[in-house]
Amino acid sequence: RRLARAESVNALRAIARQRVPRAVFDYTDGGAGDEIAMERSAEFFRDIEFHPRVLRDVSRVDTRTPVLGSESALPFGLGPTGFTRMMHHEGEIGVARAAARAGVPYALSTMGTTSLEDVSDAVPASRKWFQLYLWRDREASRDLVRRAAEAGYEALVLTVDTPVAGPRLRDVRNGLTIPPSLTLRTVVDASRKPSWWFNLLSTPPLEFASMSSKDGTIAQLVGSMFDPAATVADLGWLREIWGGKLIVKGVQGVADARAVVDAGADAVVVSNHGGRQLDRAPVPMEQLPAIAKAIGDHADVLVDGGIRSGADVAVALCLGADFVLIGRAYLFGLMAGGERGVDRALELMAVELRNTMQLLGVDSIDQLQDSHVRRRDQRG
Ligand code: FNR
Repeated sequence: RRLARAESVNALRAIARQRVPRAVFDYTDGGAGDEIAMERSAEFFRDIEFHPRVLRDVSRVDTRTPVLGSESALPFGLGPTGFTRMMHHEGEIGVARAAARAGVPYALSTMGTTSLEDVSDAVPASRKWFQLYLWRDREASRDLVRRAAEAGYEALVLTVDTPVAGPRLRDVRNGLTIPPSLTLRTVVDASRKPSWWFNLLSTPPLEFASMSSKDGTIAQLVGSMFDPAATVADLGWLREIWGGKLIVKGVQGVADARAVVDAGADAVVVSNHGGRQLDRAPVPMEQLPAIAKAIGDHADVLVDGGIRSGADVAVALCLGADFVLIGRAYLFGLMAGGERGVDRALELMAVELRNTMQLLGVDSIDQLQDSHVRRRDQRG
């Protein structure tokens, strides 16, 4: 099949582009504003030079690593992404099954389109995290936290980079609404992708993991539900009502990393939301070493943004990350071929990681060090 022949995540992206409507592809693929933060975050990896060691025994390679105190088969997990059933009808449950098969954690988004109970019922024996946005309605947040605990979620991921929605200009241009509506333009597009539209219309309507379904543009949804007044004090409140692990996602500098760890976070995700929020935000991989140095002894340091291969994962680990999250990399697989496409994306990245480790001369994750990477002079 085409999936098996896809030789990289970028090849899955090319298949994805052919399989889903333009507006859905652009929602996934795009970023905020002029997409400067998004492009820089991905281009960073091109400027990295690997410095291998040779004549080391790399006949056996172990990719296991601990995160939040328990083992993951690979040093990367699947980050939270919204509206997943829009990308493929197998949606969050398909993604969760693929993550469980690979032995890695999956974070279900508040903006997910399957309830958190349905995901945990479908994939009980897996590591599940639940990503939370703070609602204007604190009682609704409290209720979600209770449901996540009852449904066996290991960790809450509080995303803090979204007081309001970033300006997603591709969505504006495409007139994207949730759920996607049939307009003259989408009908023309649909005639080329009939199976996607058939599946959208023949499966249950898109509803959210957590919030009462409301239609509109994403900016409208975010604006009506999320609380732009949230502060570090709310993090303290969350720490009191949630007994599990607490991850704060969207930290971009040392001062904030220290503040959220002081407020009780067990881990931070250095992230600019894949360049989908503040355009011109810092490149996460550039912020990572200083943040890891400042808080690495007190909390797990995760990072995401622009990771499209196992080699990129190795770079992030060399730069000080304990664990890595991927977003678009698995969504390209999902759009290309549902659950099987996510399997393929994870398989490709695992093989690439193992190969990179062998060529670098290391046989375990903790051996990946900053001495293995150098940033090339921009003039190259
Ligand atoms: C996201 N991301 C995201 N983050 C979050 O905390 N809650 C969410 O609901 C979403 N939704 C979402 C949708 C889509 C389509 C994308 C691509 C991303 C951000 C995500 O968790 C992660 O930070 C980025 O995707 C990382 O960048 P890469 O790997 O996509 O380059």
